[in-house]
Amino acid sequence: MKIATIFGTRPEIIKLSTLIPQLDIEFEQILIHTGQHYSYQMDKIFFEELSLRDCDYTLNIGSGSHAYQTGKMLIQLENVLLHEKPDIVLVQGDTNSTLAGALAASKLQIPVAHVESGCRSFDRRMPEEINRILVDQISNYLFAPDENAYNNLTSLECIPSEKVFLVGNTSVDACLRAMKLFNEKTLNDYSLEKGKYILFTLHRQENTRFEELNEILMALNTISKKIKVLFPVHLRTRKVIIEHKIKIEDNVILTDPLGYKDFMGLLTNSKLVMTDSGGIQEEAVILNIPCLILRDNTEWMGYVEKGKNIILGTSYQKIVEIVNDLLDNKEKVDKIRKIKVQINEGATESIISILKKI
Ligand code: UD1
Ligand code: UDP
Repeated sequence: MKIATIFGTRPEIIKLSTLIPQLDIEFEQILIHTGQHYSYQMDKIFFEELSLRDCDYTLNIGSGSHAYQTGKMLIQLENVLLHEKPDIVLVQGDTNSTLAGALAASKLQIPVAHVESGCRSFDRRMPEEINRILVDQISNYLFAPDENAYNNLTSLECIPSEKVFLVGNTSVDACLRAMKLFNEKTLNDYSLEKGKYILFTLHRQENTRFEELNEILMALNTISKKIKVLFPVHLRTRKVIIEHKIKIEDNVILTDPLGYKDFMGLLTNSKLVMTDSGGIQEEAVILNIPCLILRDNTEWMGYVEKGKNIILGTSYQKIVEIVNDLLDNKEKVDKIRKIKVQINEGATESIISILKKI
């Protein structure tokens, strides 16, 4: 069987990193990179660190508005798929690359396999939510990471259960591999001590308009009076900080986006993580670091329901209140860390074995 795996951004590379080599072993695989992410720190660094092979096609689509970016991907992906004639197209997650890959395939009547299917924030203002819903509607093999996702597909959206497979999340497999590779020297590079800093990331479209970004970063400045913060800055966010000359306090250490091994190590050694990232919410649970979500909702509600992750929102007052309270009350942080959540390895193997039966 010939499988075309289509992806284009940092989280897709990471979350497909255990699956891609296995697909190469078990099937004929064509790797197609849309080029949605292209800067070294958002792209190539992960191929190097995770020992991924070169792609067969790199489309160099780059940045642009949603329609421009997705439209350009569709046109080029159609050409490649017509030429390669795969039996299945495999996509991951909820980005514009995911949507373009699934849509180009579906229009050519090529079956689509969707990894990390069924996640819903129920917030249609998020471009990712639209991508998830559309991709799941046109997918033939839906690999759900958890029970919430499985139920969203089969119960709420009435997708026939024969198409839906509860397999767990490939990010667990990637994360468990990467945490062993961390070099402790990285803590010294940023003058950080284990358990004495917050790791912070922010990049969602909803959080990176000037007003919203400014409010969140002012809260971060206030929190940094109590504790050091390490902030690897996504390139979308960096652009807005520079354009609006947003002032950030010295106790917030700004860096370029980090490699995965360093990021995993810095997460493992942090006291708390504050983020609007989807992937980091899961990784925080895997590594048992309390995660404060800079959003009003999340597609990973299972962890919030168990009390492991906390929805912080985006208002100055709420962020400062909740984070300072946790910093002042060690027992509250310890309590979160003691909550047990089941982490299932093996999604990669389950997906391969399902694909082998097709
Ligand atoms: C995209 C995904 C988002 C995912 C995120 C992972 C969509 C709609 N969004 O958001 O779901 O969480 O990737 O990080 O697909 N830029 C660079 N170099 C790069 C990539 C981006 O400088 O290699 C800058 C450009 O200014 C670009 C901006 O970042 O305009 C946004 O990039 P884009 O890929 O459109 O969206 P992300 O915010 O990265
Ligand atoms: N990540 C990384 N370096 C960083 C920030 C994040 O390697 O500086 C990793 C992180 O561990 C996770 C993934 O990138 O695996 C998450 O990507 P992002 O937050 O950009 O996207 P999302 O998961 O929100 O779609």
